[in-house]
Amino acid sequence: MTAHIVPLTQRAAWKALEAHYPKIRELHLRKLFVDDPKRGERMTAEALGIYFDYSKNRLTDETLKLLLQLAEESGLRSRIDAMFRGEKINVTEQRAVLHVALRAPKGQTIVVDGEDVVPQVHAVLDKMADFSRRVRGGEWKGHTGKPIRNVINVGIGGSDLGPVMAYEALRHYSQRDLTFRFVSNIDGTDFAEATRDLDAAETLFIISSKTFTTLETMTNAHTARVWALKTLKHHTAVAKHFVAVSTNSEEVAKFGIDTTNMFQFWDWVGGRYSMDSAIGLSTMIAIGPEHFRAMLDGFHQMDEHFRTAPFERNLPVLMGLLAVWYNNFFGAQTVAVLPYEKYLKRFPAYLQQLTMESNGKHVTLDGTEVNYETGPIFWGEPGTNGQHSFYQLIHQGTKFIPCDFIAFAQPLNPLGHHHDVLIANALAQAEALAFGKTSQEVQAEGTPSWLVPHRTFEGNRPSNTILLERLTPTALGKLVALYEHSVFTQGAIWQIDSFDQWGVELGKVLAQRIIPELTVQTESQLKHDSSTNTLIRIYRKLKEASA
Ligand code: F6P
Repeated sequence: MTAHIVPLTQRAAWKALEAHYPKIRELHLRKLFVDDPKRGERMTAEALGIYFDYSKNRLTDETLKLLLQLAEESGLRSRIDAMFRGEKINVTEQRAVLHVALRAPKGQTIVVDGEDVVPQVHAVLDKMADFSRRVRGGEWKGHTGKPIRNVINVGIGGSDLGPVMAYEALRHYSQRDLTFRFVSNIDGTDFAEATRDLDAAETLFIISSKTFTTLETMTNAHTARVWALKTLKHHTAVAKHFVAVSTNSEEVAKFGIDTTNMFQFWDWVGGRYSMDSAIGLSTMIAIGPEHFRAMLDGFHQMDEHFRTAPFERNLPVLMGLLAVWYNNFFGAQTVAVLPYEKYLKRFPAYLQQLTMESNGKHVTLDGTEVNYETGPIFWGEPGTNGQHSFYQLIHQGTKFIPCDFIAFAQPLNPLGHHHDVLIANALAQAEALAFGKTSQEVQAEGTPSWLVPHRTFEGNRPSNTILLERLTPTALGKLVALYEHSVFTQGAIWQIDSFDQWGVELGKVLAQRIIPELTVQTESQLKHDSSTNTLIRIYRKLKEASA
């Protein structure tokens, strides 16, 4: 296991950063750029075709040096090695954390509990590829002999967000005569809207659940079976219209899915890190096995970069350290992720689980309450829509919000000069945030003095710009892995378990208790707090009224 690490706030680099911060807080990005005309070039790191411009951040070379020292003192190097070696770094669940094995090329060896897992990974990938080809080619027939035209992934959390994000991101590469839908929410509307115009005879359900016990997914899966059998009549139809992705073959069999139609993954794959496993089956059917493997290759390239590049040129490390800098010293509560690429419209939602389920923790690995902030809130929308909505607050509000701008040089749908306008907006926003517009500049434009404060932009609002050539499957893999490993870097510094999610348990248990109370009139048995009891009573009344 990893060596003993000094508590975060007692590390020398942390103390040095505390002493250093007041100096940086006073510095404006305008000055930093004037003092160093080459700052933009110097502070653009490139790896694997990703240009990471971090120059518009509130830091100096000294800051960076101290942050890198913090990474060393936090044992980041040994944490990375431990993950890649398959050690059980998810201590509270006693599990290895090996999403990197999902994209390891054939021939690499990664051992978990005495077994090389890479051949198992490739066996499942091959099985997925075979199945995907049959569905895509119309060879996999439904119960009535019709080919599959619609694929519905039923899953939630990591068994949904990755597949949805990847499908949307790579839609350009998808087989257009197939329809893809995603049902996650227990709200019946999700299922009803996803199926209302579909023919069950042409529809395949992929029931995706690591545990195969998740309430939402199992409820939706049972509803799906009822819906399908209403048209297809005979229970033998299940074999043609349902496949499962899970680690739990027993529950899969209980549900009635033949385990030959089950695609396996393993307990060392966390839900939010599972889009490269069989959980990505819908993605593979959409874009085809070759593109899926290209995506995995992108992930793997970033894994290798993270594992081997010196920290000062290591993109996920730099990104993670900047996040720590703002989170812990500037007191930033949120990070805005702003992709200037419509296909990445679900990327912020995907990142919310990745970052917040991973690093939303209040105790360290040994159970000690932290005395510093951990994971920030992630949110965002694709540009330029956000500009006409919440950017006002980022530019002139009282909140401090570091931003990630993500853009691609080549459009997938070239249309007049749309793309140049799109990218000009991304660059302009980062420029405006950093440099703003002084009151003198506003005055010089002839603005009446009463209006000057309203039209002044103080600037000094930091951002990263991540620029890639083109949104390809490989590029998507690199981008997602960049964030995965940035999350890892932050978690290592905060000394928390980024791979468990105990915080989702309590609500699940309480919901199970409330479910029967909403239908049965057990007035005397309502033993919640007075607020919950009252809400249950009002709900019952309103429900009856509408009935
Ligand atoms: O929300 C909690 C969680 O356990 C996530 O971590 C996971 O991605 C999701 O539920 C779904 O779990 P499963 O794949 O087991 O249905």
